[in-house]
Amino acid sequence: MGNSFGQLFRITTWGESHGGGVGVVIDGCPPRLPLTEADIQPDLDRRRPGQSAIVSPRQEADRVRILSGTFEGKTLGTPISMMVANEDARPEAYSEMASKFRPSHADYTYQAKFGIRNWQGGGRTSARETIGRVAAGAVAKKILRAQFGVSVLAYVQQVQRVAAKVDRESVTFKQVESNIVRCPDRVAAGKMVRLIERTRRAGDSVGGMIECVARGVPPGWGEPVFDRLEADLAKAMLSLPASKGFEIGSGFGGALMAGLAHNDAFRMRGGTVRTVTNYSGGIQGGISNGETIYFRVAFKPVATVMREQETVDVSYKNTTLRARGRHDPCVLPRAVPMVEAMAALVLTDHALRQRAQCG
Ligand SMILES: Cc1cc2nc3c(=O)[nH]c(=O)nc-3n(C[C@H](O)[C@H](O)[C@H](O)COP(=O)(O)O)c2cc1C
Repeated sequence: MGNSFGQLFRITTWGESHGGGVGVVIDGCPPRLPLTEADIQPDLDRRRPGQSAIVSPRQEADRVRILSGTFEGKTLGTPISMMVANEDARPEAYSEMASKFRPSHADYTYQAKFGIRNWQGGGRTSARETIGRVAAGAVAKKILRAQFGVSVLAYVQQVQRVAAKVDRESVTFKQVESNIVRCPDRVAAGKMVRLIERTRRAGDSVGGMIECVARGVPPGWGEPVFDRLEADLAKAMLSLPASKGFEIGSGFGGALMAGLAHNDAFRMRGGTVRTVTNYSGGIQGGISNGETIYFRVAFKPVATVMREQETVDVSYKNTTLRARGRHDPCVLPRAVPMVEAMAALVLTDHALRQRAQCG
């Protein structure tokens, strides 16, 4: 249960870190959309481990194969199944985790829930599960771009206390991809890289914040009351491993403002209803208002640190654990395409729902 997401554009991810592979089935993709592996691979390359000196060194090519749902380079409207093989599996590096629970990881809760778990590489709790999301997200991004003129872009906004200055309206994909930490502010990016390298050398980990912008969303997307657009975005983001917080528009900072300053005044501009400010983050009453949608997701410092820690073993005795294996000292750079993918999945689902109900 709990492995499917979305209503009209619905995905199901499958697979574990050290099984035969990981993948996704998409149901509800519109037919006749041009689609090949070349549309998917670039986002998987941004997600894969081993891509730079500040991420997990696990060596995975993460080559995607489309197994079904396309014919002669176009979608058929039938389920699209995509998979990536696991190649660089090293179960022996995780042997301590067979008998000990990593603090703040999912070892204990999976054991408590299922009474069994694949401890190799973290099983399904590994960020490898998100390959399916990123692959499906690439399809969603293509639909958004081609059929609705919508773009989705995420970037690292903060690592621990190092924060970037970014103009949400003008930031580009090229700026984000210009450095290994995926922060469009070059000065902040340099500091972030140095902080992550220092942290890795100390055998520790750091967290931070990713911001995501969706530009070109028309007014009308979102289904009050339970499927408010921001509620679905929040669920999507908090379903990502290691995510700890979500805020849209003014977010938690808005709670400190007074209403007069916080209200987004309406003005007609070029025959369109626009707002002067955008504290709402592009969504009001759970429905997009035509302004840029923007939100932030907080990620925790990765649980698996290379230092001895207190924990409990599978026979419920106190013990200590010094983890091994290949781990990210900071998830942020690789989480950027995951945030984009989840945002694109939510927006595509709501675009199709809006078209189905309101034409
Ligand atoms: C891009 C990315 C990479 C990650 N890499 C690791 C890792 O190397 N080691 C680790 O312990 N956790 C890693 N995680 C986090 C775990 O998957 C996550 O902490 C675990 O599933 C428990 O879930 P929770 O932290 O949301 O409670 C990563 C998460 C993301 C998004």
